[in-house]
Amino acid sequence: MKVIKDIREMQSISNALKKEGKIIGFVPTMGFLHKGHISLITESKKKSDVTVVSIYVNPTQFSPSEDFEKYPRDFKSDENLCINAGVDIVFYPNGDYMYSDEHKTFVITEELSTKLCGISRPEHFRGVTTIVAKLFNIVNPNIAVFGQKDAQQSIIIKKMVEDLNFDIDIIIVPIVREVDGLALSSRNKYLSEKHRKDAPTIYSALTKAKDLIKEGEKQSRNILDFINKTLLSVPDLKIDYVSIVNMQNFEKVETIGTNTLIAVAVYFDSTRLIDNILIN
Ligand code: PAF
Repeated sequence: MKVIKDIREMQSISNALKKEGKIIGFVPTMGFLHKGHISLITESKKKSDVTVVSIYVNPTQFSPSEDFEKYPRDFKSDENLCINAGVDIVFYPNGDYMYSDEHKTFVITEELSTKLCGISRPEHFRGVTTIVAKLFNIVNPNIAVFGQKDAQQSIIIKKMVEDLNFDIDIIIVPIVREVDGLALSSRNKYLSEKHRKDAPTIYSALTKAKDLIKEGEKQSRNILDFINKTLLSVPDLKIDYVSIVNMQNFEKVETIGTNTLIAVAVYFDSTRLIDNILIN
């Protein structure tokens, strides 16, 4: 496995691979890899000849009050996980090198980026779409793989790819969960023992809501009441939002039909966790 730190070198390797007719699969990450990331890598390997993983904690998607400095980093462990998962290339750029002091260009996917997580994190998706567009130009992949856990991010990136004519197929892979249902996330490591025990309630509220819908409850307000009540029964849990929306445009829906996303964001102290469930 090669570790490439230089933008130009990454670009010329990708160009050479493309000339040889290789399909490049790409998994962008912020490192501190877990089984969720491995499932993205596995999917990329199935669909491509060469898999590139980027590891870069992107400062522009964190607000000044968020956890950029303390975001977990462990390159040695990430490198080993990538070797074991059969990754071909890790793109691991130096932090200062991705954005020059003169950086002026940002990519914004309007409307979609101001809903759900965009309400409490107004600059977040501008940072995500900008770095992902930069990484697409550096890695030049044929396909890129994202996780359903970041449902809003995945849809926004699909829209950016469509609107800006990137010739890249976006693949979305299901959420990987701990045995007790908690969605895997690099931020789970911030949870205290007590909060870690309580956190699976997020998923159990979502699955019980799905059962209620299967049994015939179609009114969003009743499902929202149920999820809010369940979550508020957890000590120390603070709700950021619980929303029932159309999966494509994130507009709230009153009656639950197909293509509905139930999305949740909560805090345990300053640790923000998100999860979602799709109703088809
Ligand atoms: O999902 C993530 O880890 C990040 O938002 C991404 C896509 C790597 C951009 O920094």
